[in-house]
Amino acid sequence: MSPVQVRPAALLGFDLMHLNKEEEKILNGEKGEGPAKAMELLVAIGKIYDADRLIPIESAQIAGVSYKTMGDAGLQFIQDFADLAKVKVEAMLNPAGMDLEEKNYESDDFRRKQAQLINAYRKLGIEMTCTCTPYLIGKRPEVRDHLAWSESSAVSFANSVLGARTNREGGPSALMAAIIGKTPNYGLHLKENRKPDIVYEVNAEVPHSLLGYLVGREIGEKIPYFKGLKPSEDDLKTLGAAMAATGSVAMYHVEGKTPEAGDFSTDELEKIKIESEDIEKIRDELRTNFEPDVIVIGCPHLSKNEMEDIGQRLKEKEKKNGPDLFVYTSRRVKEESNEAVAEIERFGKVISDTCMVVSPLEDNYNVAATNSGKAAAYLPRLANQEVIYADLKTLMEMIS
Ligand code: F3S
Repeated sequence: MSPVQVRPAALLGFDLMHLNKEEEKILNGEKGEGPAKAMELLVAIGKIYDADRLIPIESAQIAGVSYKTMGDAGLQFIQDFADLAKVKVEAMLNPAGMDLEEKNYESDDFRRKQAQLINAYRKLGIEMTCTCTPYLIGKRPEVRDHLAWSESSAVSFANSVLGARTNREGGPSALMAAIIGKTPNYGLHLKENRKPDIVYEVNAEVPHSLLGYLVGREIGEKIPYFKGLKPSEDDLKTLGAAMAATGSVAMYHVEGKTPEAGDFSTDELEKIKIESEDIEKIRDELRTNFEPDVIVIGCPHLSKNEMEDIGQRLKEKEKKNGPDLFVYTSRRVKEESNEAVAEIERFGKVISDTCMVVSPLEDNYNVAATNSGKAAAYLPRLANQEVIYADLKTLMEMIS
């Protein structure tokens, strides 16, 4: 018997969430064991969060792709599921634990199992995007699209910058939503839950990564509203990623910039001022006495503009003895950034399909320097690194 078990609908008590006839049939196993199991999880989540019904989604984005985070149990689960179901809507993958074009990996246990995991996701019908920035490779949702995305930085970007609607899904719930093509209607799918909780008045020119690092830590899972910022889209990507890492922020507003910022009054909200001294304290926390042995850039994966910026900074410079350099971006952006890739690869490597956190960086390095607030938050925990935060200019000076 398959390890994926189906429980009869009656045991789930789905009276708390309305299911239509078709959904009931799926839950009762009439459409197969895989869809029944997927429906069972969605119904359980709907019940926990008091959702009234399931709503159709435009796409799912699935995290939990690296063998480093999934392990053997996760690999087995996805392989079992791949025998039972296929996704019904556009579904994409987050970064894996290695570059998918890497050759000769069969002798290496980690890479062999990573390839098996990727193959199981492929069998489920999921696209091998392997990026945390799908919105930079043409997978850009429309305002009010409902989604089931699970990469926290992509969730934040989709909700805040694009005005789409997604909860911060786990890998399994995003996958089950992809199989059914629906998600429970609760949380950030409802307009009333998208209103801001606290206003941050930023009175200084600050790096968005450090601002996000600070605010995420303070605000937890609430929704911040920023005043005083003039961010580019890349700044917003960086800001949201850092807040999602040090806190659980899944949505934010920026006055005059993000699409729903004007929909809510902030008059009655608590106001907190952020001055440059607040940011300097964070910068001090992220110093260490060690020298970096690697520089990692691209958390979240870099945009074409960011790639070109790095390429320009390195143009006509000479490589000096210093740390190794890894730059992470999606495969598509890499392919579209040939000139920048050529400049960067005089100094280090441009890597796709993976990142510094979900690949086994710790096998070869101990001290990582980065300009990413999210990477600074995750690398100590998930890749056993001492971390140095530095801006891009300083990182470039370490190698050229
Ligand atoms: Fe992306 Fe990896 Fe950072 S998935 S957001 S580069 S931790």
